This record gives sequence, structure tokens and C-alpha cells, in this order.
Amino acid sequence: MKIIRPVIRGAGHYLPARCVENSEFATTLDTSDEWIVSRSGIERRHIAADGEFTSHLATHAARAALADAGVAADEIDAVIVATSTPDYTFPAVATQVQAQLGITTGFAFDIQAVCAGFIFALANASGLILAQQAKRILVIGAETFSRIMDPTDRSTAVLFGDGAGAIVLEAQEGSGANTDRGVLACDLNSDGRYLDLLYVDGGVSRTGTAGCLRMQGREVFRHAVEKLATTAQAALAKADLTAADVDWVVPHQANLRIIRGTAQKLGLPMERVIVTVQDHGNTSAASIPLALSVAHAQGRFKRGDLILTEAIGGGLSWGAVALRW
Ligand code: UT7
Repeated sequence: MKIIRPVIRGAGHYLPARCVENSEFATTLDTSDEWIVSRSGIERRHIAADGEFTSHLATHAARAALADAGVAADEIDAVIVATSTPDYTFPAVATQVQAQLGITTGFAFDIQAVCAGFIFALANASGLILAQQAKRILVIGAETFSRIMDPTDRSTAVLFGDGAGAIVLEAQEGSGANTDRGVLACDLNSDGRYLDLLYVDGGVSRTGTAGCLRMQGREVFRHAVEKLATTAQAALAKADLTAADVDWVVPHQANLRIIRGTAQKLGLPMERVIVTVQDHGNTSAASIPLALSVAHAQGRFKRGDLILTEAIGGGLSWGAVALRW
């Protein structure tokens, strides 16, 4: 039986020009390169320039994804941006990307699930394709987390960075078997009781300000490995697959110790895990499409490879997607 599969046709990414090494933080904060590397694996991160906004990062990544896919902007019928750092409170960043790409048809909207945003966006884009609401969707993760940092808080300021990654997701025909290319299964979860562990202390309705990120890192860490392994296994099980079938894990890039711990819990060697956290820091919703695009540009994925992506972030919200390249 022929069915529709949402297949990744191309990927691209963009990083702001300014790259900040760990050593730069040691000049203003009581921290060190040694602490940051040993606790998080992060060595450097990119920071957006003044006047460079999330929509700009997203549009650069989208153009790169379109070029990689060999698809023209007017062949796109939806733009979805996962972000927690929009240019404006409204309208959606996705509409700005749409305008910057010269797209005047179709629809565009943002998804906010913080660091799990790209997983939620990919699952929603897949659902729209399966429901035949769109044939080709630009799915983007883009963030300027540097704008919501408290520069005096060493426990968060050293961890986050700016960037964007994008994919072109396209409706293609599949057989219905888990050997098909494309998105095979998604698993999404949220639990709002954990607000206090990771949030921004401002907002339109509450304070009328943008606010700064606050995190109980150790507590988030405690939830991360457990929940990521569980959601990853759930997504695989929905596609009748196991960890042994996985060719590549593309995890959210928050902390190398979380990435290692989750891989170990899944019984997967680090050789099969894409790691970019050392160069990007934690770019929240941008981290997975950035890692995916970097690995793709390095030629690491073969057609038909099984890729497992997973992320957790503020909410708490977490999830995983199993797809074939
Ligand atoms: O992407 C969204 C999800 N977020 C995450 O997944 C982040 C999850 N959490 C983490 O990645 C880790 O918990 C951190 C990297 C944030 C922190 O690592 P940790 O090993 O959990 O350290 P900790 O928070 O337990 O702090 C250990 C010590 C503390 O000092 P005391 O209380 O032991 O005296 C901190 O004050 O390290 C101190 N510390 C620092 N020292 C030097 C915290 N930040 C810094 C710093 N430089 N930048």
C-alpha cells in the first residue's frame, strides 16, 4: 500500500560571525575554560551582532536548506519556526522569514517548546503533511538566546549561544514499512509542574519585559537523561524499531555529559552520536537542525540511515523523532 511519508529533502544552517571562546567569560565572571569544558563540553559559541535578529538567522538557514534541497522558495507552502526568542512578541518569526524569502502564498507560524522546539515543529510539520495541508514545509529552529542571558549569572551565561538550522520536509510516497525514508514516528511530552527548573523571569502578560533565563541546572540534568532515553525508546517502539537499528543519534546539544549519559542508557556507542555542543553551545531549538545540517554537510549520513533525534527543555517539554534519511 502506498502512503505519504514526510522526507527531509535538504538541510542548511547559519551561525553568526562572532565566535566567543570560553576564555572570554573568565574576564568578567568567576569561571574558567576548565570548568565550562569539564561540566558541559562547551568550548565556544556564536553570538548574534547588534541588529541581527532571530528572523535573519532563520532566513539564512532557510536559504541554505532550499539550496541544498534544490527547491525554490515559491515551491514552499508552509514555514514553521521553532523559537523562544522571537523578533517581536507578534507576529510569528515564521511570517518574517516567509517575507524575507519572498513567499506570498501558504502559511507560516511559530512553535514554542524551548529546547524541544525543533522536535515539536518536526512532529507538527509531519502531521500537516500527512493531513495533506502542505506538500513542502520549511522547518526551522532559530534562536538568539544571548538576548535573554543574565550576564552576571555564571551558571547560565556560559552555556548558551545563537544560531539557526533548517530543513525542507517534503511529502513523498512510501510503502508503509519502517524501511521507508522520512519521518517514521514521533513521541512528544510535557509536564508543566516543572516550570521552576527552567524559565525566563519575564513575559508580556506577567511583567511586560523580556526577562532573563533562570535554570536549576543540576535538577534539569537529573530529569534529562532519564526522560530522553524513555522518549527515544518510545519513538523507536512506535516504528517497531529498537536502538540496535539506529545509525545516528542527533541529540539536543545542551551538555556533553547528558549526550553521553543518554547514549549509554540507549546502549549506543558515541561513534554513532553527532556532537556539535563544543562549537555551538546550547542553541535551544536551533541545536538539532544545526547538528543535523553540520553532519549532513560533512557527508556523514547515507540515504536510508535511521536517525534518532531527541531533546528536552523548559516546560519541561521533551520528545523524540525517528526518521530515515
Ligand atoms: O537545554 C535545556 C536543558 N538544559 C540542560 O540540559 C542543562 C542541564 N544542566 C547542565 O547541563 C548542568 O547541570 C550544568 C552545566 C548547568 C551545571 O553542571 P553541574 O555539574 O550540574 O554543576 P552544578 O550546577 O551542580 O554546580 C557545581 C558548582 C557550584 O558550586 P558549589 O555549589 O558546588 O560550590 C556552582 O556554583 O559549580 C558552580 N558553578 C560554576 N563554577 C564555575 C556554576 N556555574 C559555574 C561556572 N564557572 N560557570
